Amino acid sequence: MANANRLASLSQQQRNLIDMAKRKEKIEVTEKKNIPNPSDALVLFGMTGDLVYKKIFPALYAMAKLGVLNTPVVGVASSKLSLAQIRKRAAESIKKSGKIDDKQALSHLLSLLNYVVGDYNDPATYKAIKSALGSAKRPTHYLAIPPSLFAVVIKGLGTAGLAENARVIVEKPFGRDLESANKLSAIATSVFPEDSIFLIDHYLGKEAIMNILYFRFANSFLEPIWNRNNVASVQITLAEDFGVEGRGEFYESAGCLRDVIQNHLFQVVALLAMEPPAYQGFEAVHIEKAKVFKAMRPLKPDDLVRGQYVGYRKEPRVAKDSDVETFCSLRLFIDSWRWAGVPWYLRSGKFLAATAAEVLVQLKPPPQQLFNDSAPTNDRANYLRFRLSPGFAIGLAARVKSAGKGFVGNQHELDLHCKSQKEETPYSRLLTDAMAGDGTLFTREDAIESAWAVVEPVLKEHHSVLPYQLGSWGPKQSDELIAADGGWLNPMPGQAEN
Ligand code: BG6
Repeated sequence: MANANRLASLSQQQRNLIDMAKRKEKIEVTEKKNIPNPSDALVLFGMTGDLVYKKIFPALYAMAKLGVLNTPVVGVASSKLSLAQIRKRAAESIKKSGKIDDKQALSHLLSLLNYVVGDYNDPATYKAIKSALGSAKRPTHYLAIPPSLFAVVIKGLGTAGLAENARVIVEKPFGRDLESANKLSAIATSVFPEDSIFLIDHYLGKEAIMNILYFRFANSFLEPIWNRNNVASVQITLAEDFGVEGRGEFYESAGCLRDVIQNHLFQVVALLAMEPPAYQGFEAVHIEKAKVFKAMRPLKPDDLVRGQYVGYRKEPRVAKDSDVETFCSLRLFIDSWRWAGVPWYLRSGKFLAATAAEVLVQLKPPPQQLFNDSAPTNDRANYLRFRLSPGFAIGLAARVKSAGKGFVGNQHELDLHCKSQKEETPYSRLLTDAMAGDGTLFTREDAIESAWAVVEPVLKEHHSVLPYQLGSWGPKQSDELIAADGGWLNPMPGQAEN
C-alpha cells in the first residue's frame, strides 16, 4: 500500500523514467540470459519451399563462410525428397545466387543438413524431428512456411515438447489481419516465452534500411528540416520486374498489400518518421517506431490503387477471376505533431519497369519563385533520395546555375554513394542473431498489430483490381493518386554491387 501511495505521488515524467529503466533492465537481462545460450540446432520448416531455395540456402552458406554455422540444420517439408536431393537443391540454389567461392564452407554446410519428410498436422512428424535433433537441446525453429500453417506448427512443437529451451522465428506476414495476428500471438506466447519468439522482417536486416536510422540520427543537419514545415511529401517505391514466380498460391492468400507493404514498406516509413530515440539502444528505437504505427491514419478505399498484371490469372494456382493485387500504391497520413498533413505515398508491384527500391523525401519549394525555371512551376523542388536497392546511395538534389547570362540552372544530386564492403545478407544476419537470442533487429508484436489496424479497413473493403501491362509502372490511376504532389520519381534500374 505504501508503495502504491508513493507511486501515485510521482509525476508522469518520473513514472516514464522508471518504466524506461525497467524496460532497459529487462532487455539487458534478456541479452545476458540468452547470449550464453546459443541455439544448438536449426530446424527449417518449409525446406523445399521457395523462400528457403531463394534466400535461406544462400544465407546459410554465408553463415558457413563466416564460421558462424556449426549446428545441425534439420529441414522439414512434405515433399518426398532424399537427403542427397536436398543437398543438391541447396548447392544449386547457392550457385544460382552467386558464385561458389568457398568450397570448404559449402561442403561444411551440406554436411550439416538433414531432412525430415512429414505432414505438419501429423504428430509423427514432430517425433521424427526430435530424433533428427539427436542431442541438441536448444533448437531454433524457423517457420519458412505459408502463414496459414504457423499456428499448426507452433502447436505441434508445443505438444511434442520441442518448444522447451527453444526459439521460434516466424516469417511475415504475421497473420492475415488484426484478428488473426492477435490469435496467432496468443498461440505463440502460450507455447514459447515472449523473448524466444522472433518476428522476422528481412528488410530490417538490410544495410540500406539500417542506414536510414543511422543517417537520420548520426547527423545534425537533417533534423531542422525533417518535418511538416519543410517536407511536402514522401514517396517509397519497391518495384520488381518479375512476376510471382511460382508463388501464385501464396499470392492468392496475401496480395501485395500483405506481402510487402504492411511490413517491409511500413518499417521503412517508421524509420523515416520516428522521433529520435530517447536513449541509446534498440529498445528506444522499437518504442519510437511503435508510436509511428499508432499515429498512422487507417486507410480508406480511395487511398489505394490496386493493380494486377496482365496474365496473372493464368499463373499456376491462381483463380481465373482473381481480384488479388500484384501492385498496390497508396496514400498514407501520419497524424503526429511532426507529420500532420504530409502525404506518404507507397507503391510496390510485380512485373514493373525495373527492380529497384527507393525513398524520395520531397522538400517544399522556396517561398517565392524568383527564377523562371525553378520549382514549383517548372521543376521538382529539392529532394533527398535514398536508394535502397540495388546498391545503396543517398542523393540530395539542389539547383545550381548554369554558366551564361540567364539565371537558369539545373537540379543536380549531391551524391553520397555508399560503396559498401560486402554486405552480409539480411537473412544470414537475422538468423545468426535469432540463434544467439538477440532480438534487436526483429519486429514487435505491438507494432505489427498497429500496422494491421492501419490496413484493416481496406482489407475488408476496396476497389477492384485494375489491369496493368508488364514492364509498366502500374495502372495509370496510380499516377493520378500522386499527381497533386509532383508525381512519382521512378527509380532507375541498376546493377547490384558486387
Ligand atoms: C518478400 C516478398 O518478403 O520480399 C517478395 O514475399 C518480395 O514478394 C521480397 O519479392 C522483396 O525483398 P528483396 O529483399 O528481395 O528485395
